[in-house]
Amino acid sequence: AINSGNSFRVASPASDVASELADIDWDNLGFGFMPTDYMYSMKCSQGENFSKGELQRFGNIELSPSAGILNYGQGLFEGLKAYRKHDGNILLFRPEENATRLKMGAERMCMPSPSVEQFVEAVKATVLANERWIPPPGKGSLYIRPLLMGSGAVLGLAPAPEYTFLIYVSPVGNYFKEGLAPINLVVETEMHRATPGGTGGVKTIGNYAAVLKAQSAAKAKGYSDVLYLDCVQKKYLEEVSSCNVFIVKGNLIVTPAIKGTILPGITRKSIIDVAISQGFEVEERQVSVDELLDADEVFCTGTAVVVSPVGSITHQGRRVTYGNDGVGLVSQQLYSALTSLQMGLSEDKMGWIVEL
Ligand code: COI
Repeated sequence: AINSGNSFRVASPASDVASELADIDWDNLGFGFMPTDYMYSMKCSQGENFSKGELQRFGNIELSPSAGILNYGQGLFEGLKAYRKHDGNILLFRPEENATRLKMGAERMCMPSPSVEQFVEAVKATVLANERWIPPPGKGSLYIRPLLMGSGAVLGLAPAPEYTFLIYVSPVGNYFKEGLAPINLVVETEMHRATPGGTGGVKTIGNYAAVLKAQSAAKAKGYSDVLYLDCVQKKYLEEVSSCNVFIVKGNLIVTPAIKGTILPGITRKSIIDVAISQGFEVEERQVSVDELLDADEVFCTGTAVVVSPVGSITHQGRRVTYGNDGVGLVSQQLYSALTSLQMGLSEDKMGWIVEL
């Protein structure tokens, strides 16, 4: 049951709730919001440190109409996942990486941020409080969405006087409606996602609102999503609305280098390390549209999308298909290696898994 918005402090979630699975259709999870039992909240004033976070019953939050987040977009989000293993244990994937990225983003957006330890402890507490919403093994994962926002009231343009760190969770399956089938992307040539010196390299909420127009237009034409180009030369790949992009040519895997306009994805970084450990050559550098269209395989990476094979790219009316509309072998191999690790099915030689 979900409460209507009035939150109250809980010492520990009722154990009978945590011990059984929620009564939902676990076989048909997509990537839609589903309210769960508890959320985590922690506040602090500008110039102070976060402290005294607590679990609250999940519900609406109250904000001043003048809150910094509502008026000036002073906000960041994160995304990570918890998996349920066959032995019942719960696994998180590199949560300290999300904590560190949030800290970097907070610095860019003039916000205080929780410490890495506070972030990881808060994530663990929220996941455990919502244990019954973690899908059974093989059915999906619990998506964890931390938010950091200027919640205090401002009128003139300035950092907000108060900040809220909040975490909610929702069970999810595949991100794209295509499921695990290849997605079809269109290269966007008019609109850009980020500019040098801007905020493209941090996970600020505004970066995601900015892509909705191009994404909606692409979806209306039947594409899965949009691939953005750099805004200066308009010929080098940046990223897709919600994920990073990789190309494969023989034994070489290439992805656009991190240079302030591309989100430093944790799945991106992990896939680079997994690929190197499997004997691939990996380069982080500029990738031109010509090189993209000439690739053997293309795939996207992200927490939400995991590793998504790309079946086709359309650029200025020309459509190029990859892997005979099938899933490329390299994409498949990297997807399996990463998800086996995340689900606890293979040995964690990298030390990336946090077991709850
Ligand atoms: C994620 O992959 O976790 C993201 O934050 C992307 C979001 C647009 C779903």
